[in-house]
Amino acid sequence: MIAFQSIPNLNDFSGTLLIPVYETYEKSIIPIEFHLASVAAKVFCGKKDSSYVVEIADCTHIFIGLGKETDYKSIKTIFRRIASKHKDLFGVNVVFAIPEKFSTLQVEAAVSGLVLGTYNLGHYKKSELHPFLDSNFKLQYSAQSDVAEAIKRGVKIATAQIETLNLVDLPPNKVNPKYLSDWAVQAGKQFGFEVTVIGKAKATELGLHSFLSVGQGSANEPQFIIMDYRPESGKKHFGLVGKGITFDTGGLNIKTAGMVQMKCDMAGAAAILGAMQLIADLQLPYRVTAIVPACENSVDAQSFRPSDVIQSYAGHSIEVIDTDAEGRLILVDGLSYLIKNYQPETIIDLATLTGSVVGTLGYECAGLFTKNTDLSLKLQAAGDAIGERMWPLPLWDVYKSDIESEIADVKNYSGKPVAGAISAAKFLEYFTQEHSSWAHLDIAGVAFGDSEFAKTKHATAYGVHLITTFIENQ
Ligand code: BES
Ligand code: ZN
Ligand code: ZN
Repeated sequence: MIAFQSIPNLNDFSGTLLIPVYETYEKSIIPIEFHLASVAAKVFCGKKDSSYVVEIADCTHIFIGLGKETDYKSIKTIFRRIASKHKDLFGVNVVFAIPEKFSTLQVEAAVSGLVLGTYNLGHYKKSELHPFLDSNFKLQYSAQSDVAEAIKRGVKIATAQIETLNLVDLPPNKVNPKYLSDWAVQAGKQFGFEVTVIGKAKATELGLHSFLSVGQGSANEPQFIIMDYRPESGKKHFGLVGKGITFDTGGLNIKTAGMVQMKCDMAGAAAILGAMQLIADLQLPYRVTAIVPACENSVDAQSFRPSDVIQSYAGHSIEVIDTDAEGRLILVDGLSYLIKNYQPETIIDLATLTGSVVGTLGYECAGLFTKNTDLSLKLQAAGDAIGERMWPLPLWDVYKSDIESEIADVKNYSGKPVAGAISAAKFLEYFTQEHSSWAHLDIAGVAFGDSEFAKTKHATAYGVHLITTFIENQ
């Protein structure tokens, strides 16, 4: 991970300079100047997403356009781009010239972008180490005020996000349920939270039947992962649940489209794991209990079937209409287990739950479901501040008929090709025991997608910073 160190001045400096510039005016007669370089405004005036590179006397000046006003997410993306696409310009000496105008949040955003820029999707390719990741490398910075704390936070945020990117982007023959539980155990030791892993035998004994049904066709043992972060001054108690389907074939209702992307079906789990790391790393003064039900939805003689009736931890019976609507089956056991055994004051679940939410909201925001207005506003505010957006969808009881079954207490799919994200949320709600502060985020459209940073779809780490910011803002 990148180390940072302050540099008192640029006297006798040779190396690479990262110089953020707020937009001026392209017809201005005043050039943009820094250190040894001067650029005419008609060539470069700081427009957003523009950059200008000039080499003078052993100094590579990289002028980075920020635009007139800039938000957290834009700064982060701009700096991620610089670190990831200009790595050939970086040698041993690199200085980030922090503008006087930068707030601590802007410093944090820029630093987390620079760290994220070292992430490389080519996990199995022979590729050179990013220059920032050389063990002797230190990224230097010059600043007018004390920004050390903001830099530390930026590094911690991106470090946790990179863990989540790894977990989602690595292939499903590597990231199986055991890989996730091992990750949790290791992170718990390193960052300071308790981890309990419940395997198949214990889960059977406990009655986590809905969870176990989904994994019964897989050779990989399901893992029900419980993480508990308990700081001494645990003010308020939060509960988190993340969908951890390490691969979703659809089961016997096998997918006929889009299966190749279904390694991303544990992105909710990966976000919760990354958030637990970050919450503990930042030593937030809140108790956080997180549950990740992890299993694989496979096709096999042992697979559960459409029309099976299964039991759940909460004691409600479920008619399985479609084995591809599996996420809700593992989540409800996670939610009931969390509520019964831990009683958190607020509960958030994150899941790549439905294709329907992608049809509704696309790739720009998650679907937010909650009946608690205060919670809804706080989650949206946290997301807007850092560029991980969400938009509310209804949980009205008129949609309840979609999950009414004739043979069991409830069914897992309406059988109709409409309002899929809403009926999935209604199914979850049925198991939340009317908890007054529960929210569900359907992240199917935002967890994994296209961006300028790779040619194929890849993880975004949506949720890691969002959940942490939300808890921190209490
Ligand atoms: N894992 C999928 C949802 C998904 C879709 C995630 C696109 C990421 C990107 C989920 O398990 C699923 O298959 N949902 C079905 C439900 C249907 C069968 C009721 C869907 O949305 O089509
Ligand atoms: Zn599915
Ligand atoms: Zn799924």
